[in-house]
Amino acid sequence: AQDNELVIAIDGPSGAGKSSTARGVATRLGLDYLDTGAMYRAMSWACMVGGIDMTSPAAMLERAGNAELQMVLDPADPRVVVDGHDVTAAIREPAIAEHVSAVAGVIPIRELLTGQMRRIIADSARIVAEGRDVTTVVWPQAQLRLLMVADPAARIARREAELAGAAGHERVVSSIVDRDRKDSAVSQFETPAEGVRLLDTTHLGLDEVIGTVIAMASDLG
Ligand code: DC
Repeated sequence: AQDNELVIAIDGPSGAGKSSTARGVATRLGLDYLDTGAMYRAMSWACMVGGIDMTSPAAMLERAGNAELQMVLDPADPRVVVDGHDVTAAIREPAIAEHVSAVAGVIPIRELLTGQMRRIIADSARIVAEGRDVTTVVWPQAQLRLLMVADPAARIARREAELAGAAGHERVVSSIVDRDRKDSAVSQFETPAEGVRLLDTTHLGLDEVIGTVIAMASDLG
């Protein structure tokens, strides 16, 4: 580890506020930002656009192995580029979210992406990385490791505000509940691993959460 290395790893379920928090912290501390979930989404996009059979792990792996993924780490404007296509907006489509768990469930695809994540983090050395298994698998040596959680009701309300009425209440509820169930098959993210601090954001606003993380980071020896 280089002298001024600072890696902040944040894990948690969807809607806990990881992305907004991670971007806010990175912006205020002048760090890079990596959304590891976006890398799984990018592979899901590549498979779907490529007409890959999403029930075939071998076909998904082959497509993922051939995809050239580029992550732009600017917290003010993070971008995801696959084979030269900027897919930053496209990977937020509901169709991607519906299939991403299938992609994220293929162990060799996880290994492939985990290797890429480690290279990105090592090259940067000053970065906030968020996802499901960054604190435990990708970069357990991070200087600060956090598990962000929030009650399902709070996560549903936030996701609804984010979508600004683009999806009905029932659809948001089922998407959060569904994703929790599918995600828990690949990673255990509700109990923090040893050395990982639990941050419950149910009753905190975004600025309070960002402030809490920055205070933790400045308390590091
Ligand atoms: O956080 P998100 O909704 O963008 O994540 C997309 C998917 O990727 C989600 O199904 C969980 C999965 N994921 C994962 O398995 N491991 C990570 N480190 C990040 C995301």
